[in-house]
Amino acid sequence: MKRIELLSTVVILGLIVTGMVAFADDRFSLTSPNGLSFGLIKGYENWPVVAPSYRTDNNEIRIILGNQTIMEAYRAGVPANGKAFPDGSILVKIGYSERKNKAFTAAIEPDVLRRVEYMIKDAKKFGETGGWGYARFVHDAATGTFKPYGKTADFDRECFQCHKLVKDRDFVFTGYPVR
Ligand code: HEC
Repeated sequence: MKRIELLSTVVILGLIVTGMVAFADDRFSLTSPNGLSFGLIKGYENWPVVAPSYRTDNNEIRIILGNQTIMEAYRAGVPANGKAFPDGSILVKIGYSERKNKAFTAAIEPDVLRRVEYMIKDAKKFGETGGWGYARFVHDAATGTFKPYGKTADFDRECFQCHKLVKDRDFVFTGYPVR
């Protein structure tokens, strides 16, 4: 009898552990082709908002978040003061499709999560792309999973190419609005 009890306990524990693994959020084990991992921004859900933004050509709502290092730099006047963001600065951008708020259709709100991407500053390490390392993880809403963006390590040249438009702002588009 004892043996059967022990056996069933083991089986039940096994099922619980398997379930936990199957339902665990494994996004943080993903790595972009240039070696930057999703895990590097673990906890970003709780980071302060720098600003929202909205792209009119593809109807996308974005939220831009910053880690403590970059928030302090923003508050000290970077990049408007001509200074560069310090190493360790990270900006995360979360992109959503839009929908009308059901209760108040003049208001639009985030609908489907499309992607999470980030930029991390290390002037030496990412010298070839303006001192910023880039990573993007594309969300598949049907499965609730993410996929790293880019085929080869130099996919980040595409990011850099466009972010060069704001070279005079240390390659960062988003400013810190008064609040
Ligand atoms: C065609 C232009 C373009 C390309 C290509 C591009 N970005 Fe951006 N990015 C923008 C614009 C414009 C913003 C400003 C915020 C907004 O409206 O989305 C931005 C903002 C960001 C931000 C927030 C910080 C900031 O500069 O405002 C991050 C992080 C970011 N992009 C990451 C990436 C990554 C990673 C890639 C490449 C995989 C990439 N971007 C490629 C145009 C681009």
